[in-house]
Amino acid sequence: MLTAIGLMSGTSLDGVDVALIETDGKRVKAFGPSGYRPYTEKERELLRQALSEAVNLPQRDARPGILREAERAVTLAHAEAVASFNAQNRITCEDIDIVGFHGQTVLHRPAQKMTVQIGDATALAKAIHIPVMHDFRAADVAAGGQGAPFVPVYHRALAQSLERDGPMAVLNIGGVSNITYIDGADTLIACDTGPGNALLDDFIYRMTGQPFDGEGRMAAQGNADEAWIARALQHPFFALPPPKSLDRNDFASLVLRDVAPADGAATLTAFTAAAIARIVPLLPKAPQSWIVAGGGARNLTLLRMLRERLAPVTVEAADALGWSSDAIEAQAFGFLAARGLKGLPLSYPATTGVPIPMTGGVIARP
Ligand SMILES: Nc1ncnc2c1ncn2[C@@H]1O[C@H](COP(=O)(O)OP(=O)(O)O)[C@@H](O)[C@H]1O
Ligand SMILES: [Mg+2]
Repeated sequence: MLTAIGLMSGTSLDGVDVALIETDGKRVKAFGPSGYRPYTEKERELLRQALSEAVNLPQRDARPGILREAERAVTLAHAEAVASFNAQNRITCEDIDIVGFHGQTVLHRPAQKMTVQIGDATALAKAIHIPVMHDFRAADVAAGGQGAPFVPVYHRALAQSLERDGPMAVLNIGGVSNITYIDGADTLIACDTGPGNALLDDFIYRMTGQPFDGEGRMAAQGNADEAWIARALQHPFFALPPPKSLDRNDFASLVLRDVAPADGAATLTAFTAAAIARIVPLLPKAPQSWIVAGGGARNLTLLRMLRERLAPVTVEAADALGWSSDAIEAQAFGFLAARGLKGLPLSYPATTGVPIPMTGGVIARP
């Protein structure tokens, strides 16, 4: 058994999730505490700029201009996140075998074999005095995989302990949404489904200066524009079968113009729900139950719209099962670090489209 800390900073650019997990890389022995270190508004702005500059990155290890500054900020935020997590929970560096450090994705273009996560693992390892595993997605993309999603092996490990009959779906709603379809021990299919919170967050930020629509309150007061949603769903991505993945800004061209804030929020929330429901006919069978994790699980309007679009099957928030919606992805990267250490696969043909099951991760030592 290993004691691992996982660190996740997702496409929402909201902050760093931290979680401790005890695992052998196959099953979960115990969940430990979890924590969160939000980005400051200044850091968030720096990351937004880094994302737009990364569009022109010539090589995956190049860090021109603002990207170098953003990488330093990401590394520092993660070092702070671990330091305060350890202090709060009275954990010392000797207690931890490995840290799984995802980094911040600034570019994800698997067709060009490019996936770039910024964050300096060696500097982080030195700062926290713990070995750090990072660059989880690179081997998969180099071998021709989509490089995403990577949480499915962890979802499978969690689902095994539920002993449910029939196909189930674990849905993660971060900046982008991704689904893991599990049917018994042998069937694991995964893909990104489309937008998660990112389009909605960007819209809310433009309209109100707030980072997101808290609990989905704004969307609850508006009317969704179904014609706009139907047009948006014409995007060729939605007709593709899994595996498939997205860059955060793949739908950035879909802007809503001249709408009241509440109607825009309702439309973008409903679009996320509709895009998730759109995956069902592309799966072998319709899932009988859905478990929802990620920050989007806190958006009550989104959950309601999902229930409407997926009816009559059950849609539950992960917390209702004793999992942690907020910590699940960070736990996953602790779990993946343990798997990487043992040379176990992180991705499979049916999760990322990689030709053969692929291990991954690179270790940086203090
Ligand atoms: N209380 C809340 N109400 C509504 N949405 C929320 C709430 N808390 C978080 N979110 C949404 O979740 C996002 C963060 O989710 P997260 O799972 O961390 O995504 P990522 O993995 O992309 O960082 C926020 O940007 C926001 O859109
Ligand atoms: Mg996040």
